[in-house]
Amino acid sequence: MLIISLVVLAVLASLPWWLPARVVALRVRVFERINGDEGIPVPGDLAGVEHFGTLYAHPAATGRSRGAALSDLFWYWLSPGPEMHQEHLEAGDTYDAVARVTRRLLAVRRTEAEELARRCASRALRDVRGLVRLRDLMMPLWAEFSYELVFAEPCPREARDLIAGNAADVSSALKCTSLRHLGRRKRLTAYLLRNLHRVRVPLPEGLTAREKAYYLHGAFFTTAVVQLSEAMAHLLLVLARHPEVQERARTGDDRYLDQVIAETMRLYPLFGIAHRITTGDIALDERTTIPAGSVLCFNYPAFHRAGLADPDRFDPDRFAGPGAKDLNHIPFGVAANRPCPAWRLAPIAMRAVAREVLDRYVLDSSVSHTRSLPHRGPCLLTPRDAPHRPGPALAYLRVRDRWEDVWRSLAQLVLGTYMVWDARRLRLCERHFEGSEAEKRYAHPGSTHSTRHGS
Ligand code: HEM
Repeated sequence: MLIISLVVLAVLASLPWWLPARVVALRVRVFERINGDEGIPVPGDLAGVEHFGTLYAHPAATGRSRGAALSDLFWYWLSPGPEMHQEHLEAGDTYDAVARVTRRLLAVRRTEAEELARRCASRALRDVRGLVRLRDLMMPLWAEFSYELVFAEPCPREARDLIAGNAADVSSALKCTSLRHLGRRKRLTAYLLRNLHRVRVPLPEGLTAREKAYYLHGAFFTTAVVQLSEAMAHLLLVLARHPEVQERARTGDDRYLDQVIAETMRLYPLFGIAHRITTGDIALDERTTIPAGSVLCFNYPAFHRAGLADPDRFDPDRFAGPGAKDLNHIPFGVAANRPCPAWRLAPIAMRAVAREVLDRYVLDSSVSHTRSLPHRGPCLLTPRDAPHRPGPALAYLRVRDRWEDVWRSLAQLVLGTYMVWDARRLRLCERHFEGSEAEKRYAHPGSTHSTRHGS
């Protein structure tokens, strides 16, 4: 009996060292079973890393949503209103009008962007110290930042809470650490609907009020807040885990901080995969043609690692010398194919916030650091004028992180499987395009061929 109890205890105690990795592998297999393997990975067997840039920039690699089962999953995670989310709109007049408004809202002078980011950071960091989760700390900050970009006035508390709640919900669902809560998200849509008249630039003509609210909801109050919060959580966690980099970033000039940001985004790109649906055949070489309707899955982490002898080493100095321009580095996508419209603004705002944090605190952390950041970046913030004795907190974080990994990996398996199944069942994207085809057939009863939406 004693031996059995000891064995059980030993197995239980060893769980954190073997269970999470196995559960993650199982989750990947389950997702593949439900989703099928429709995508062509790039780089992969068919198209190597040497084809990555040309394929991504190819004029036929432009389809965004229609025709890919994978889109059903993204639409599920980005609901409500995924059909108006800029990222998922097909090329055409609506896309052009929406992208124009986004560019206008993001065209802020550098000094103004820095000042706004600093102000939001100052408010978010007031009275903060001790153990935090970096992503949670960042969400209200970027909620206020995005609100001011859109409305050009200080963000009311009600709006900040709605925006941060929505962003946290999307982010946790994407990582499968929680189910999506549509009620929480719809309250934000309702707020935006009530306040559309206060947006500081004219919104695209020809859209209904609800479509305008969905557009803002998707680009500025989901993508902007989620991406900036995730990127900052990665940056601050990197600084917390590399004290020598932190010290140099604190005392050094902005060029070094920019290198740290670039290397953080190389190692932890926010996009794991960006997909495109081909709208025509693409000839790779004399023997290989990728047919129209294929789903190309561009793998950012694999591309960022390619060609490096030590791709896993965190080394900001990679971006110091003349060799930097030869690195595979596309944290904001590729210029030729719908890159991130915030590619100029985001690093400016991130640098300003990083300076505010570094001026106030010493950061320490002992947790693991992966691209998906499911633990939301546990970190110890010690005010710079307080005694710095991180030892006990770091020991606690190390143990807690290991054990949290066990239950979290199990939760991700169950919740992720459910959401992937639910998304396949709801077929939000497929049904949207079926609906628009049916409308067109109804309007032109003689027509039997299908027309590409938005083209
Ligand atoms: C550090 C922060 C950010 C990173 C690393 C990032 C990264 C990216 C990447 C890689 C893409 C292109 C994906 C593809 O090719 O499919 C993208 C697209 C996009 N991003 Fe960002 N993003 C960030 C912040 C923002 C912010 C602040 C906004 C604010 C509106 C934003 C809005 C968008 C939109 C609307 C698209 C779709 C563009 C289109 O299809 O026309 N992003 N982002």
